[in-house]
Amino acid sequence: MKIALIGYGKMGKAIEEIAVSKGHEIVLKIDVQNSHELTKENIQKADVAIEFTGPHSAFENVKKCIELGIPVVSGSTGWLEKWNEIAAACKANNGCIVYSSNYSIGVNLFFEVNKQLAKLMEPYNDYDVSMTEIHHTEKKDAPSGTAISLAEQILSNIGRKKQWVNEASLTPSDLVITSERIDPAPGTHTVKYSSPIDTIEITHTAHTRKGFASGAVLAAEFANGKIGIFTMKEVLGL
Ligand SMILES: NC(=O)c1ccc[n+]([C@@H]2O[C@H](COP(=O)([O-])OP(=O)(O)OC[C@H]3O[C@@H](n4cnc5c(N)ncnc54)[C@H](O)[C@@H]3O)[C@@H](O)[C@H]2O)c1
Repeated sequence: MKIALIGYGKMGKAIEEIAVSKGHEIVLKIDVQNSHELTKENIQKADVAIEFTGPHSAFENVKKCIELGIPVVSGSTGWLEKWNEIAAACKANNGCIVYSSNYSIGVNLFFEVNKQLAKLMEPYNDYDVSMTEIHHTEKKDAPSGTAISLAEQILSNIGRKKQWVNEASLTPSDLVITSERIDPAPGTHTVKYSSPIDTIEITHTAHTRKGFASGAVLAAEFANGKIGIFTMKEVLGL
């Protein structure tokens, strides 16, 4: 498979390593210095684009890929307020997008455990639920996209929580997400249910970026030749 990498930072480089080791070819690398090279002529050399740039550039890059007719796998976080526009552009252009706030297989299994635990905890009002996420200091957005996904899964299942907040709060209906920035943490997420009697905690800790990169390559293999809007749930058949 021929891959265009949009964003050649920590993730772009990790994805290149995994993709090449699986026999794929990187035919285009776009970063800030050569962003003008993201043209129809250049992108047509690739079967799939993989976009990991950041909150400020993701929307434009993803929209451009869709308009240029190339399936795109995006991992950039912190831009989903514009998701509806992307979904509409994808439908209008018969395009293909895979989006996940976290491409690691372990985290996607963790998402399913989180949903299941929330369903079990729903009737037990004595338990308050809160979350912590820890990332490296270069991370530009807080809370992490993964923490937001976990929070939305909890809000859909725990009726006593109405919204997530990224600050201390004593309002019982707030789901508090605490963000910590510590190097070199690639990503730790904890969901904690605490009552006066006991505590139940589930934690996912990423040891390296390789998990995200191999999941993104798997998503690109899945997206190749497809039309539609997908998440890692479909890619992994969960
Ligand atoms: N979904 C996931 O599994 C996952 C995992 C890790 C990181 N991320 C997210 O992916 C994004 C990138 O993470 P990273 O650790 O590689 O960051 P990074 O800062 O190391 O790399 C980002 C790269 O994008 C480039 N860039 C910025 N604007 C650009 C533009 N307009 N066009 C082309 N390139 C541009 C930067 O120059 C940089 O090289 C972040 O939003 C991060 O939160 C997602």
